[in-house]
Amino acid sequence: MENNRRDFIKKSAALALGTIAATSIVNKTLAATEFIEKESILTEDVKFVLPKLPYEYDALEPHIDKMTMEIHYSKHHQAYVDNLNKALAAMDANVVKNISSLDDIFAMVDKLPIAVRNNAGGHYNHTFFWSAMKPKAGGIPTGKLAEAINASFTSFEEFKKQFTDVATKRFGSGWAWLVTNKGKLSMCSTANQDNPLMKLDSVEIKGTPVLALDVWEHAYYLKNQNRRGDYIHSFWNVVDWQHADQIFTNAK
Ligand SMILES: [Fe+2]
Repeated sequence: MENNRRDFIKKSAALALGTIAATSIVNKTLAATEFIEKESILTEDVKFVLPKLPYEYDALEPHIDKMTMEIHYSKHHQAYVDNLNKALAAMDANVVKNISSLDDIFAMVDKLPIAVRNNAGGHYNHTFFWSAMKPKAGGIPTGKLAEAINASFTSFEEFKKQFTDVATKRFGSGWAWLVTNKGKLSMCSTANQDNPLMKLDSVEIKGTPVLALDVWEHAYYLKNQNRRGDYIHSFWNVVDWQHADQIFTNAK
């Protein structure tokens, strides 16, 4: 099972970026997460591809329902991938040739079309979100991450309270994040499909995402309608803390 999961992460990472090319380009920011392929390049005829989900649509029931998962993944995430490819295809080829990864996009996102920003963010954020959850998970953090959470937020309960607050108070559509920067944990929310890897003044906390929660209504409306709080409560039952600890431990 664990091997399958690792294979999924590696395969989906490769697919997420399109291809493996002869030229090696190290993806500095994302390499630590083992989530995006480390050596890859986006070429003219390569497109971003929707990675396979690491579990079935109903695997997170009863916390996240099957229909929400199916529509969220196969319609919403797919649309971000398709629209990212379209937005890149519409750009000046001389600019696109300098883009070899999502990391490259995020590093110069303030100079790129808004459609690239929104859809590259949507693609990354959702891929990250799927891998942040797993069936029969939840519980409490493990390893170095558990120690860091206790050191930064006094206790796991206090961390949960603060993260829930950040996710609840994000006005409109966006994301809540736990971020590490040089081993220091912080949390923030971002609007729309922005994320802490983006070089944008509006992104208050920058660093490597450790945990993410999608608080767009499309993530919970079918099951919870307007009750975002119920959805956030459910999320804690499917968090893959082992995966989050791995990201935190490997982050530079
Ligand atoms: Fe979403």
